[in-house]
Amino acid sequence: MNLPHIVFFFTLLVFSVRANTVDPKIEAAYNFVRDTCNKSEELKDLCNSVIDSNPRQDLKSNLTGLLAIFVNQTLQAVIHDHSYLQSQIAHGHLDNLTQKVFISCMDQYQMSKDSLELILKEALVKQKSGDLNMDLGQIDNYLDLCEMDFEGFTPEPSAWKSRYDYVNSLLILSLRMTNLITCNHIHVC
Ligand SMILES: *[C@@H]1O[C@H](CO)[C@@H](O)[C@H](O)[C@H]1NC(C)=O
Ligand SMILES: *[C@@H]1O[C@H](CO)[C@@H](O)[C@H](O)[C@H]1NC(C)=O
Ligand SMILES: *[C@@H]1O[C@H](CO)[C@@H](O)[C@H](O)[C@H]1NC(C)=O
Ligand SMILES: *[C@@H]1O[C@H](CO)[C@@H](O)[C@H](O)[C@H]1NC(C)=O
Repeated sequence: MNLPHIVFFFTLLVFSVRANTVDPKIEAAYNFVRDTCNKSEELKDLCNSVIDSNPRQDLKSNLTGLLAIFVNQTLQAVIHDHSYLQSQIAHGHLDNLTQKVFISCMDQYQMSKDSLELILKEALVKQKSGDLNMDLGQIDNYLDLCEMDFEGFTPEPSAWKSRYDYVNSLLILSLRMTNLITCNHIHVC
């Protein structure tokens, strides 16, 4: 063997040894995530994509970590929705009725944001998942109030409806994680 070949084989050896020491943990986390998301029924694809796109590998080995990922993703969506409401209201191109609902929704989304920030902290220090389940239920109520403001009043803009559907799915996934922790299945026990 000439020198370049030796260097090549040596590099190959180092990489395969590294791969072997890293693999089991990553593979276990990967399987854990797949198994857990598989339990989340119709939200399975969203579950996988949210976890896969999150860089915090350290949170992917147990349910408490996955809960923190979903709560954080819900929080980020609520923050974006809150800015969206703010900019829509500021632009002044909304009809009066939609404007009125959006202004009232701002309060609900602000309260959701404040609560989610607390829940995320609690989720990370592993507060009892039963309590977190109730706190997340309260967020569900806040977001619902905004949806209910449209009913019988003015048609809900479809762009807003898709934002709501997305954040609501993330909230459901967060709730399912707390149920998995407490009840070992996705429904409330
Ligand atoms: C996913 O869950 C279904 C039941 O909901 C089960 O039949 C299937 O084997 C599971 N797949 C994996 C990869 O765990
Ligand atoms: C879950 O994972 C986190 C982060 O790796 C760790 O700090 C925590 O102790 C784990 N919790 C359990 C119950 O294993
Ligand atoms: C939550 O998500 C944001 C934005 O992706 C990130 O900067 C932050 O570190 C995350 N927090 C936790 C506790 O994972
Ligand atoms: C909308 O509100 C503005 C100011 O509050 C008012 O001048 C305008 O007449 C209202 N438009 C309709 C269609 O009610």
